[in-house]
Amino acid sequence: MHTVIPFSPGHKARLHSALLAWFEQHRRPLPWRTDYAPYSVWISEIMLQQTQMDRGVSYFEAWMKRFPSIADLARAEEDDVLRAWEGLGYYSRARNILRAARKILAEHGGIFPSAHEDIAALPGIGPYTAAAIASIAFNQDVACIDANVERVVSRLYDLDLPVRKKPGRTILEECATALLCKGRARDYNQAVMELGALVCGKKPACPVCPLQSFCRALQHGTAHLRPVLPEKAASVALTVASGVLASGGRIYIQKRLPNDVWGGLWEFPGGSVEQRERPEEAVVREFLEETGLAVRVTNKLGCLRHKYTKYNITLHCFALALADESGHSAPCPTPPVLSEASEFRWCTLEELKEYAMPSSHRKLADTLTLAGDHLSASLSRSPHAGASRGLLDLLAG
Ligand code: ADE
Ligand code: SF4
Repeated sequence: MHTVIPFSPGHKARLHSALLAWFEQHRRPLPWRTDYAPYSVWISEIMLQQTQMDRGVSYFEAWMKRFPSIADLARAEEDDVLRAWEGLGYYSRARNILRAARKILAEHGGIFPSAHEDIAALPGIGPYTAAAIASIAFNQDVACIDANVERVVSRLYDLDLPVRKKPGRTILEECATALLCKGRARDYNQAVMELGALVCGKKPACPVCPLQSFCRALQHGTAHLRPVLPEKAASVALTVASGVLASGGRIYIQKRLPNDVWGGLWEFPGGSVEQRERPEEAVVREFLEETGLAVRVTNKLGCLRHKYTKYNITLHCFALALADESGHSAPCPTPPVLSEASEFRWCTLEELKEYAMPSSHRKLADTLTLAGDHLSASLSRSPHAGASRGLLDLLAG
């Protein structure tokens, strides 16, 4: 049986002073570290689960301007919440934040609850976030384990078991709990995370670490082998096609059904390119399946590549017109029949900005807006400027 040798009370006390002194000197001046308001701690912790600190900070600041209090958030529309989250990915987190805010308003009078079981009962709050809020906002004595803590604690103890499954996970939790600095959980937990972020990273900077003399992995020369993590899933290539249908100077977008990763976000219709299908055939087929509208490709707009979890996605983008529409100034056609969407809009280039979209579709929308600006500039200079027909279609009418 695997056993872990505990740190003696004396070692632990010295480790705490070294770590807390280091944190006092090196901590980053993050906006939620001024008053540790529970609402701020909550939003920042959810945002930081998926993004780098500098991006997290700018999203956090924009969010707090848009939704200054839990009550403001609870009264917001889901569309606005998704728009504020746009670009962070994992949109169920934004939907859960809104549900949690409404629950806090309904059940706790708009005041973020402090009891651990009430925190953990909020939508979207798992064990890590519950412990982070309980300790950082309320200074309660609970350990929290994120990827930073996994690195620091597994190295301090030189834990050689996989830390994401049992029994390694249980032992890591016991170690993290044993090391907690009681009464100072707010500073201590943040200090461990900060050390994991700034010093004890994937490639640890042991020569500048305040915990060198306590670190068993450093002593054994195994720091680079800890923590023991699962192998990364192999990446999967995916080819998809999306189409921008323009009619009467407006562009077709639709809102995805609620229950998938991009549920509630707006998009240009499209889907996977099948075996032995060309992207321009796929986009026409998908458009018909999803909207009942018969379309034709007028132009290739470009090709975007992006990564999403294990997928390497190539997105082929096309400009489309209605198959039976000849002129540029026809009015918007009969309503589509939606099979993959809850709503649709015909909107101007300008209005595209107001709708929350997955990142790749936002890039496409931005490209259109830029191209539209160039095109209107060149058209006002010379009516025969060589602009592409697809974009002329877009802006016609
Ligand atoms: N990463 C995620 N949460 C953090 C925190 N509270 N402090 C430092 N880094 C973090
Ligand atoms: Fe991490 Fe190295 Fe510090 Fe150990 S000595 S906690 S491995 S940075």
